[in-house]
Amino acid sequence: MTHGVTIAGTGSYVPEKIVTNDDLSKIVDTTDEWIVTRTGIKERRIAAENESSSDLATQAALKALEQSNTKAEDLELIIIATITPDTLTPSTAAYVQTNLGAHKAVAFDISAACAGFVYAMKIATNMINGGSVKNALIIGAEKLSCVTNWTDRTTCVLFGDGAGAAVLRPAEEGEGRILATDIGTDGTQTKILNIPGGGSACPTTPENIHENLATLTMSGKEVFKQAVTRMRDSANTVIERANLTPEDISLVIPHQANLRIIDAIADRLAVPNDRVFVNLHKYGNTSAAAIAIALDEANREGKIKKGENLVMVAFGAGLTWAAAAIEW
Ligand SMILES: CC(C)(COP(=O)(O)OP(=O)(O)OC[C@H]1O[C@@H](n2cnc3c(N)ncnc32)[C@H](O)[C@@H]1OP(=O)(O)O)[C@@H](O)C(=O)NCCC(=O)NCCS
Repeated sequence: MTHGVTIAGTGSYVPEKIVTNDDLSKIVDTTDEWIVTRTGIKERRIAAENESSSDLATQAALKALEQSNTKAEDLELIIIATITPDTLTPSTAAYVQTNLGAHKAVAFDISAACAGFVYAMKIATNMINGGSVKNALIIGAEKLSCVTNWTDRTTCVLFGDGAGAAVLRPAEEGEGRILATDIGTDGTQTKILNIPGGGSACPTTPENIHENLATLTMSGKEVFKQAVTRMRDSANTVIERANLTPEDISLVIPHQANLRIIDAIADRLAVPNDRVFVNLHKYGNTSAAAIAIALDEANREGKIKKGENLVMVAFGAGLTWAAAAIEW
């Protein structure tokens, strides 16, 4: 008899170095007031030069393993969602497998930008439900500071570094479980949010190296509109699939990109703001790590109680979107 998939433990890690809005105002033409009013972000964490995405991921994973009482050698699956892999190949997950000593685990990365952690959750859930693995580790890890154009005030104020992780396994009777998931992609909108260079379409060359092509570019207003619509629809999809109503949701954990986007989603879902988890003032947008870090903080701060329902909903480059309804 299967009871679905449970989240057995969570973990997160952010680098020590804090960069405030005032710090940024010394390198680009911006102010703390502009950034806080337009985004809600007050500061972000920036990884050390010798700290890579796999290092951040490993620290988050160790905490999730500890909380879930899982030994690394018992893991059978590691999925890392990242747009800032340590190397283009092998996968960041391969480095993390070795760092943890999780030698039995099949390990691979996925690229679904800010929606990646929830994509990973869906893939791992399906693999566990299908019976091919038992203990799975999913991680969102990003060192966005290495793909940020630090001379562009319209983007550099938005992003930060960090990692979050969760251990998934088959639910025992009476345990919480993942009730429904939704993932989607619209490849017609690749130009509104992307890293144009550094890949096979536009490799970095001695001629273009000074053009900052391997950094994040964005049409802020268009992304804003798409984010609100897609996240509203995806959250509603999982609420419906789980046979819930907005009143049944104790906590919404949205992607942490912009407080105005979060407020708009809460409004459209008819969920009061005190049931929406926000930590972007501390970390900015950490892409695939954002929801994972928020899930861990909400868990460790006791914001989700056993038996309560939560909805996670994310949006990112691709365009990608994803949501999950979870009974805790
Ligand atoms: C990026 C974002 C905060 C910009 O806010 P906005 O209200 O759309 O602001 P605009 O882009 O219209 O810019 C307004 C003005 O502020 C200026 N500006 C932009 N960044 C600035 C900064 N950091 N400091 C000061 N001024 C800034 C612009 O140059 C523009 O000036 P102008 O009117 O003289 O041309 C907002 O569009 C947004 O959050 N979009 C979604 C981003 C996102 O979530 N991305 C990730 C999705 S996963």
